[in-house]
Amino acid sequence: MTSKKRKLPESFHVTEPNKFLLGCKIYILKASIEKMRLQIFTSQLQKYGGIQHEQLESDTTHLVVDDKMEAERMCRILKVDKPPENIEILKTSWLSSCFKSKDMVPTKGFELDLSVFAKKDLMEDEDTKMIKDGDSSGSKSNTEGEIKPAKVGVMFRAYKKTKMDPEGYNDDPDSDYMASDHEEEGNVSAMGSDTTPQTSPCKTIQTSSWVCAQSSKNTLPNSNKHITDKLEEMVKTYESTSDKWRAYGYQKAIQALRRLPRPISSWQEAKDLPGVGTRLADKIWEIAESGELRKLNEFRSSDEVKVMEMFGNVWGAGAHTSRTWYQQGFRTLDDLRTKANLTHQQKIGLKHYDDILERMPRVEAGEIEAVVRTAAESLLPGVIAQACGSYRRKKTTCGDVDVLVTHPDGKSHRGIFGKLLTKLRDQGFLTDDLVTSEDDGNQKKYLGVCKLPGENRRHRRLDIIVVPYDEYACALVYFTGSAHFNRSLRHLAKKKGMSLSEHSLNVGVVRNGSEKVFEGTPVPTPTEESVLEKLGVPYRPPEERDH
Ligand code: TTP
Ligand code: MG
Repeated sequence: MTSKKRKLPESFHVTEPNKFLLGCKIYILKASIEKMRLQIFTSQLQKYGGIQHEQLESDTTHLVVDDKMEAERMCRILKVDKPPENIEILKTSWLSSCFKSKDMVPTKGFELDLSVFAKKDLMEDEDTKMIKDGDSSGSKSNTEGEIKPAKVGVMFRAYKKTKMDPEGYNDDPDSDYMASDHEEEGNVSAMGSDTTPQTSPCKTIQTSSWVCAQSSKNTLPNSNKHITDKLEEMVKTYESTSDKWRAYGYQKAIQALRRLPRPISSWQEAKDLPGVGTRLADKIWEIAESGELRKLNEFRSSDEVKVMEMFGNVWGAGAHTSRTWYQQGFRTLDDLRTKANLTHQQKIGLKHYDDILERMPRVEAGEIEAVVRTAAESLLPGVIAQACGSYRRKKTTCGDVDVLVTHPDGKSHRGIFGKLLTKLRDQGFLTDDLVTSEDDGNQKKYLGVCKLPGENRRHRRLDIIVVPYDEYACALVYFTGSAHFNRSLRHLAKKKGMSLSEHSLNVGVVRNGSEKVFEGTPVPTPTEESVLEKLGVPYRPPEERDH
């Protein structure tokens, strides 16, 4: 690359006391520069007559970057594919030297090393060919539109990574979301790779570092809350815009950040976190450095995103429906009420929009559990009706109440589902049905809305799941959660040649890659403890599974 340097302005060389930066228009790339240092640069620049640009402008004369900045990273942050030309790209030590000597220091020796781009220009044709021939992952669509997919460096890394990874996990730095975490790497004590059929029912796996084997209580206070809070908002946004994979990637990063015992201290440290690619590391570091995330601010100020989020909170409306509504020109909930074609569930979702969205205090969830239990007991003595989910994990608020119903005799649970719903409806407790009976094998599931008797009560979401007693322990584990704990457990089961669901724990499962060739055989699991024990996970009370 040939770098045409801008001719220095006349005033540049004027040795006017204390105004030696006159004519300099400087943009300082904040990444990796300490806040305090930035503040000093800003005040000194002003003092010595320089102008600080808030972004790269057409007349910016100097781009100043952290001393350890690498050219490729700078380009990623600037969202350009090549270093800007016609501009001096210098290290902060140049500015510091100028301020120290109170004079314009020659830039020689302070320039950022751009040689990697010269090499890249040479490699470009070669890389593009390899991607085309051997791998399609480099052309992954880019919904954020920040870095174009055809960037050679990005494609090259994606290509290499995919080639190295037998499972096809793609740590494509262009996609923040697809990567493995600790549980997917390194915890299997080598009994064959996952691409070979798993015939052994009990591989030797070290479980101690798995999420499901650890108490959520032992987790240290979140030292990176200021970052995870913002990433959580990104998750919500991506979920509402149907970018599930990206949301999932952010969630993994959030978990990794939460596990970190100290505030993140460098871009590289962020990049080294499991599941964090280059672009997500950029975002983490942007928040760490500036307290802000421009992408999130853009989302927050985007009408489309705001409206889609609002629509996505209507029960029964997914991201696809929200988008359709938006495209149909609807912008408010009233628009939906009056103009949209709504399903039965969406009508209910709209009717109780605020109530459903609000989390209830756990004491109220306990009252709801008691109403269901009392009704069930009046119909079937000895019945078990247990609120699971966040309530059982002892959370202070609950999004809904998930009541699991069974009977220890193993058979009389069969008639209770319909009778229980009728009774609860008759007493005015169930106000709206969302899904009346979802049959899932031997389990039956009701999703609806309830309201406790008395003044000033709000409508709450209630799920009732009736299960046979021999499935109770696995159902209890599943519906208690958390979802993250469950994912970890299921993944562990898979690694051990087993499979776990809300119905059963099966051993001797045969897989070919991710495909199950043989379902395996269910093992008796009379209690939650036995489910966990068979997976080699120490039993922990529900409140310690709140990962
Ligand atoms: P939820 O009621 O959705 O979750 P929750 O009770 O933990 O939290 P909230 O207060 O928001 O209601 O689901 C109940 C349990 O079902 C959950 O704790 C774990 C399990 N589950 C999964 O394992 N995966 C999932 O994707 C979902 C939605 C639930
Ligand atoms: Mg719940």
